[in-house]
Amino acid sequence: MKLKIGLVGMGGIGNVHAAAYMKDELAELVAVCDVRKERVDAATEKYGVRGYESLEQMLANEDLDIVDVTTSGYENGSWHFEPTMEALEAGKHVLCEKPLSNNIEECREMVRVAAKKKLYLGCNLNHYFSETSRLAKQLMADDKIGETVYALFKTGFDGGEFTYGGKGSARFQQAYGHMKAFLTHPFSVMRHFCGDITHIQSFSTKPGFRKNKGDLLLSVNSVHVRFADDTVGYLLSQRGDAMWGLGGWWSFEVAGSKGTFCIENCVEKLTYWGAPTKDGKPEPVVTNTGITNFEQTFPDRIHAFLEDVTNKVHPEHIRASGRDALATMEYIFAVIDSYEQGGELVRPHALPAAHGDPVVERI
Ligand SMILES: NC(=O)c1ccc[n+]([C@@H]2O[C@H](COP(=O)([O-])OP(=O)(O)OC[C@H]3O[C@@H](n4cnc5c(N)ncnc54)[C@H](O)[C@@H]3O)[C@@H](O)[C@H]2O)c1
Repeated sequence: MKLKIGLVGMGGIGNVHAAAYMKDELAELVAVCDVRKERVDAATEKYGVRGYESLEQMLANEDLDIVDVTTSGYENGSWHFEPTMEALEAGKHVLCEKPLSNNIEECREMVRVAAKKKLYLGCNLNHYFSETSRLAKQLMADDKIGETVYALFKTGFDGGEFTYGGKGSARFQQAYGHMKAFLTHPFSVMRHFCGDITHIQSFSTKPGFRKNKGDLLLSVNSVHVRFADDTVGYLLSQRGDAMWGLGGWWSFEVAGSKGTFCIENCVEKLTYWGAPTKDGKPEPVVTNTGITNFEQTFPDRIHAFLEDVTNKVHPEHIRASGRDALATMEYIFAVIDSYEQGGELVRPHALPAAHGDPVVERI
């Protein structure tokens, strides 16, 4: 049976989600809502669904399985908490856009309430829902990487002083706007492959052309990390201050005792270098996926959430869960903490324990 979906927030990304639901055999998009009437009208006409100007009205009139929250707000996350909590309180499963919230206490509360109510809370950590990531994970599962030695993530929005348009919208006119809105993606990929991060040390800055305009955004973030298994790692992120270099929009290299992989341009290319053995040094294996459009990660991630809910996967085991998203926010707040202390080493706040379910354990 198809899952009934109600979407909250019909901006650009709400429409990307709507298009994904319209094509997914596990979903039926039944309603949308937005506080802006013209966006409701445009969406009801486009998708042939019912429309509302508040989530309260939508919940009162529709029998939904999942509420998908694609609102935005300050640092792209300050409008996520209220609709998510309203939907959870109404007993609905929630898929929330990233960041879970721009406020860490709210992130913790969202995860706590979903767990208490035994409801699914997923987050659109879409960047590792790709063929490149699937193949790279397989290399690790096949023991082609061995013991991991280091992990390097480099990401940036193409740009430079000529394309810089001056201070951004109020949404991003806070020092930590880029960190809170965006670093959830690279941290989610790093954690997906290398596990929990236990130590963080960061420097953040911005180029002169931003400084001269009084731009508050700390758009360049240099973050040194240590993972729980002792792997060391590095994340470099910038927001339209320089051109992409090697690896395109983002690249991620994980090196191990038996081999190294590098994903280039998120969805586009995977290279594997096997370490030398008694038989010599193998040739690198390059996989070009033929995919360059990152938007394919949206339907793939949304389908994974629909599969997990349909299959009644234990809430602690769904892919890209609220807890996974909370982990990335704990790291971001550790990055901020380290920056505020002049680059001190910081240990991210602990995650809530994954308790396990005695019924599941017994099976
Ligand atoms: N996962 C990704 O790759 C990715 C990429 C870009 C953006 N995003 C995320 O997607 C989200 C949406 O981004 P966007 O650019 O579409 O934002 P947007 O501001 O264009 O759209 C948000 C919409 O939500 C509506 N809204 C706000 N509060 C509401 C409420 N309480 N009830 C109903 N409607 C409400 C607004 O009126 C607006 O139409 C952001 O959180 C952003 O971080 C994710």
